[in-house]
Order: sequence, then C-alpha cells, then structure tokens
Amino acid sequence: MDNRSIHGMWSSRLAFILAATGSAVGLGNIWRFPYMASDNGGGAFVLVYLGCVALVALPILFAELAIGRRGRRSPINTLLDVSREDGTSRRWSGLGWLGILAGVLILSFYSVVAGWTLHYAWLYLMQLFGGTGITDPGATFGELLSNPRELIFWHAVFMAMTVMVVALGVEKGLERSVKLLMPALLLMLLALLGYSVSTGHVGEAATFLFKPDFGKITPGVVLSAMGQAFFSLSLGMCAMMTYGAYLPRDVSIPRVGVAVALADTGIALLAGLAIFPIVIEFLGTPTGGGAGLIFTSLPSAFNKMGAVFGLLFFVLLSVAAWTSSISLLEPASAYLVERGWNRKRAALAMALLCWGLGLFSALGFNVLSGIRPLGQDSILDATNLIANDILLPVGGLLIAIYAGWRLNRQRLREQMHGAPGWVYTIWIWLLRVVAPLAVTAVLVVKLYDAIQRI
Ligand code: PFF
Repeated sequence: MDNRSIHGMWSSRLAFILAATGSAVGLGNIWRFPYMASDNGGGAFVLVYLGCVALVALPILFAELAIGRRGRRSPINTLLDVSREDGTSRRWSGLGWLGILAGVLILSFYSVVAGWTLHYAWLYLMQLFGGTGITDPGATFGELLSNPRELIFWHAVFMAMTVMVVALGVEKGLERSVKLLMPALLLMLLALLGYSVSTGHVGEAATFLFKPDFGKITPGVVLSAMGQAFFSLSLGMCAMMTYGAYLPRDVSIPRVGVAVALADTGIALLAGLAIFPIVIEFLGTPTGGGAGLIFTSLPSAFNKMGAVFGLLFFVLLSVAAWTSSISLLEPASAYLVERGWNRKRAALAMALLCWGLGLFSALGFNVLSGIRPLGQDSILDATNLIANDILLPVGGLLIAIYAGWRLNRQRLREQMHGAPGWVYTIWIWLLRVVAPLAVTAVLVVKLYDAIQRI
C-alpha cells in the first residue's frame, strides 16, 4: 500500500506525538480524571487506571495506529483496503462507520461543554477589562445552562475553531495548530502548577488525590477506570487510526504509543496536583467533583486569586478541548474527501452536522429539560452514555479482535518494526485475550446499568 496518505503526513515523529497527545489530553484529563481519582480511592484508583492503560488501552492504541498506517486513508476505506489485502471480510469496514458515528456524537456534546469553558474564559477576560466577572459562581453556571442563546453561541464558536483547523488539512491545519497549542498548554499548566506549589498545599492535595483506599475499588470502579482510559486515549472511535494513517513509515509505533500514553496520564495527574491545592487554599477542604468542581468551586477560588488565574485556567481547558475536537472531526472529514469532496467543504459539512446534533445537548438544559432519554439526567448525559459507554467499548473490542485474530500476522508485524519479539508476542496476546475480555466486561456491565435505569 501507499507510503503516503493523500491527506498529507506528519512531518516528524514529534509532530505526531504532539497531535496524538493533543487528541488524548482534553476535558477528560483536566476535568474528569482528578475528580474520578479523588472520589474512587485515590492512589488505588490511579494504580487500577495505570493497569487498564498498560494492559488494555495501550495494545488497542498500537493496533489502531498499525491498521491506520497500513491503510493510509480514512477509517472506513482503510479497513476496506486492509481487509481486502488480508482476505478478510469487507464487513469490517462497518467498524469505521461505527467510529465515525461515535466521533460525531462525542463532538456534538464535547463542543457544548468546550463552549462553557470559552464562555468562562471570556467572562474572566472581560473582568480584566473592568467587567463584573463571576461574582456568584453557582448562579453564573446556572444562568449559563438556562440560557439557550448563550449556550448555542459558544457551542458555535468552538465548532468554528475546530473546523478552521481541520479545513486547512493535516500539515497546515492539524500539525501547525498542535505545534503551537501543545507547548502553550504545557506552559499554562506549569504556570498554574507553580502557583499551586506556592500555596504550600501540594502535599495535602497529593494525599487527597493519591492516598490509596483499596476499599473503594469495586468492580464498578475498575470498569469506570477502563472507560476513562479509553476516552482519555481517544480509543475505540478510530481517531487514532486516522492519525496513524498520516504516520511516516520509519516511526516506531510502540515508542510513540508509549510516549502518548505517558504524556496523557502525566498531564491528568499534574492537572489534579494543580487544581486541588487551589481548592484547599481558598475553599478549605477539597470537595468532590462533577461539573461543580470546575465551573463553580474553582471560580470561587479564582475570585480570590484574581481574574488572571481564571482566564489562564479556562484558556487552558479550551485549548485542551480544541486539540481533541480536531481529532473528532478529522476521520469523517477525511472520508468525505476520499469521496471527492473538497476538504474545506467536507470539514464544514461535518461540523455543521455535529453542531446541529449538539443543539439537542445544549437545549437539554433548558427548553428540552423535560426530556430525559435512557433514564439519564439530560440529553447530554444520554448522548455521552451511548457514545462513551457503548460505542467506544464496542469499537475497542472489534479493533482488538480484528487486529488480534483476523489480520495477516506478517503484515501486522511489519508495522511493529523496532519492537523486540517479546514485546510483539505480549502485545498480540493482550489483543487476543485480555483486551476483548476486559472490554466485554465493561460493555456488559454498562449495558446492564443502562437497561436498569430505563
Ligand atoms: N481524549 C479526549 C479527552 O480526554 O478529553 C476526548 C476524546 C477525543 C475522545 C478524541 C475520543 C476522541 F476520538
């Protein structure tokens, strides 16, 4: 198959690592991981999470990258080509469709939440210029959710930012943006961390976050850790397969895969260490999570620290979401390009579709708040349930089976060049047995939970 993708290529190994880390590091790391860890057994949860990354997520990440690099096209066509070459059923391309569906659904609500972060960044910016800012954080968040126009506006702004990057293509759009945004993200995180260290509460925060409480590790918690590992590494929806399609031949997949997983986990841990000392300093005891931690507790702290910190934090969150959302839009856009569409139109059409779907999530907090599909609290939660709890594990399961059992071993081995034999063997067995069993367990429990709630 081709040595280059028609969509363009990452110019270097570093460019790929930045792009894939950009996809991985998002709202999931900075918002979700810290409160999941603190609510579910601290260090014990972190250990379980690391286990899930190493034994389940990483093997699937390697598989997505290897399949993508073989096919060099959007997931649907990559799976068609690779299946044809290996004499496997063309029906595996359905996995590509499933991934695109998951991406569209996730982007639809991800953009709504990212819109909240933009709105907050804007409020702090205005405060610096004499605006009133956020005087009563609880009320501000409530007002935002009850205001459809505001929600839809910021959802549109975020989607426009996403489409701008994807429309410019792999080199001029995706690569250029991550080369700028990822160092900026790291700097912002370090600045915030520096402040947190200066409060003198890092030790306390670390205890709160990492003190292991193995009593809290129930089967349900293990499964949530696995789900979080999947979401955080952007797996199961062929985003990484698409990024793998633009990966130069000579780059070692195991090496970059491990680098991305380490960066993703490292940033999630650092985010926790940046957030909790601030909460302790200004609000006394560290409080639990959910949307409240980021959109009400932290703003109360920022009110005392100064608007600059609020601005810094919400810009950081917006940037993290932005480099993730481009990887949610790219697979579907690449597919339309392969069908003969011009890239700008393809990206715009897909973004419009996701924006339109996202309206339901946005309106679910106000006009449509009476609708609670699938027994969930809101339309956003229901969409999240379908995409994250069902489609991503199904996607991951199919990827593991496809790579582990259906593909030609020799050709798969070629993609893993540079890996010693034992690494390859362990990888194959994790893909064949461990990952499918673990992911099936997640699926069964999540489905059971979902059915119970309906
Ligand atoms: N990994 C992102 C996060 O942690 O916020 C979310 C995400 C991005 C999931 C891209 C899936 C994806 F394809």
